[in-house]
Amino acid sequence: MRRLPSWMNWRTTAGKILIAAALAVVLVAAWAVGSIASDRPEEYGEITEHFKYGSIGSEPGGSLLRPVGGALPPYWMFRMLPSICRDKLPGGYASLGLVTEPGRDLPIGISRRRRLGVDQVGFNCAICHTGTVRDSPGAPPRVVLGMPSHQLDLQRLVEFVIDCSLDNRMTRDTVLGRAREMDGDGPSLFERLLLRLGLVNRLKIQVLDQRNRIEPVLGDRVPRWGRGRVDTFNPYKSIQFNWPLDELPPSELIGASDFPSIWNQAPREGMHLHWDGDNDSVDERNLSAALGAGVTPVTVDHAAMQRVRDWIWTLPPPKYPYAIDQALAARGLALYTEHCRSCHADERFREGVVAPGTRVGQVVPIADIGTDRHRLDSYTDTFATNQYALYPDSRYRFSHFRKTGGYANHPLDGIWLRGPFLHNGSVPTLRDLLDAPEARPKAFYRGYDLFDQTRVGFVSDVPRVDGHDFSLFDTAIPGNANTGHVYGTTLSDVDKAALVEHLKTF
Ligand code: HEC
Ligand code: HEC
Repeated sequence: MRRLPSWMNWRTTAGKILIAAALAVVLVAAWAVGSIASDRPEEYGEITEHFKYGSIGSEPGGSLLRPVGGALPPYWMFRMLPSICRDKLPGGYASLGLVTEPGRDLPIGISRRRRLGVDQVGFNCAICHTGTVRDSPGAPPRVVLGMPSHQLDLQRLVEFVIDCSLDNRMTRDTVLGRAREMDGDGPSLFERLLLRLGLVNRLKIQVLDQRNRIEPVLGDRVPRWGRGRVDTFNPYKSIQFNWPLDELPPSELIGASDFPSIWNQAPREGMHLHWDGDNDSVDERNLSAALGAGVTPVTVDHAAMQRVRDWIWTLPPPKYPYAIDQALAARGLALYTEHCRSCHADERFREGVVAPGTRVGQVVPIADIGTDRHRLDSYTDTFATNQYALYPDSRYRFSHFRKTGGYANHPLDGIWLRGPFLHNGSVPTLRDLLDAPEARPKAFYRGYDLFDQTRVGFVSDVPRVDGHDFSLFDTAIPGNANTGHVYGTTLSDVDKAALVEHLKTF
């Protein structure tokens, strides 16, 4: 019998080494495949926790070609950014209006999910739809889920994340060094391996690409959104559809929109909502919002979205917690019925009752309403056509979007928490809205959560608190006009006070 070469004989040392090496390769491959194949969101049983911290699928990692590069960097990098670029954000994320609860490693509105073996973070609905309110300057803020995130400066958050990700101090060695200091929650073995294989540079390339695409709506190229607003459709045009924003008419790039409330959705079904009334389906509005959060048709988590959808369907608008002068409010009811009810329905909407014979959820032509027209113009027919091509051949395909010619009559449930008012947030309080446009505040600050019980809205004459700068809102800037909506503006002061008192019962 011919003798086998020694390496083919498992009894020899060489053979043993070969078998061990082969086993090791198989194990490492299995580990790598296992790591890459994992798609694991953090799970929350409680629906409010799911809303605040749960993933709707906006984390990147939908394909192997794009392991990083969503709106946010991987989890541990996101947490390191404020300390790596301390000079760019001395007050940390809290100074941008992100809300962190005790014992939590991430702010409300940021979700965590492991994808392609990397712990990723992304935005969820709560980032734009969770606000804070305080009763007095010294009182702690209360967190209200479903209310507009009027304190959040999303634009500065996005700019900071981009800037710091591209900063020279953001290197493989910095990240690995800091990762060693993060006990427990640092990168896994697999992630450290990716870091050694160039993950940081890969991230920088993707961030650069992202920045180049949305550059025309960042910095000072268009009027800043400031706290409490986001440009609903322009970032979407470039991120989801790859449109070159530079080639659009400059006025189309001004689309800053106030965050709305999202409670009590059931009675809103069939109404033409979004500020310009462009869609009459609650489910399509939810899905489209998820795209705004950074979800893509590949990464979306429909089951997680459904939980949020079912919850906001019946989420009650919070009741006004301070004193109401009932006699004055009763007088206001008559005025409301005469001047406002036909467009906005009435206070029973919080119970789901749509007052009969009203035009709530329909669009008032821009010539009649007379408010700033930029947001309306930022949504175009061409854009609507593109939306129809998302989710093709699936039951999620959009079919309800349409271009309108004005702004929608929204129901006013929980209106006390929805200031500043109008689609561009250009009028600080309800009482200001009842003044003629030329008498409304011309410039004010947005982002302070101190409640004003007299004028109903948030205190808007304070530039800064605890080192947090609020956003100066200048109504003379394109997109920020506080004109139009002149209903009730010729009433007497007593009648205006009565109307405001009645609106507290909504
Ligand atoms: C990036 C911020 C942002 C995120 C994230 C976000 N929204 Fe919104 N949402 C908005 C803005 C701004 C509008 C108003 C859009 C407009 O008309 O310009 C809006 C509108 C809506 C509306 C329609 C409200 C109305 O009455 O007109 C619903 C419903 C909604 N969002 C639900 C959600 C849900 C559900 C999620 C999570 C899947 C979500 N949103 C995530 C910013 C956001
Ligand atoms: C002809 C229909 C019409 C009438 C009448 C009307 N409104 Fe409005 N209202 C609108 C439209 C349309 C908007 C949205 C305009 C925009 O955002 O540019 C609006 C917006 C508002 C808002 C801001 C909502 C928000 O979330 O920011 C409030 C508050 C409001 N109206 C209160 C009133 C009151 C109070 C009256 C009666 C004095 C009244 N409206 C009469 C059509 C009407």
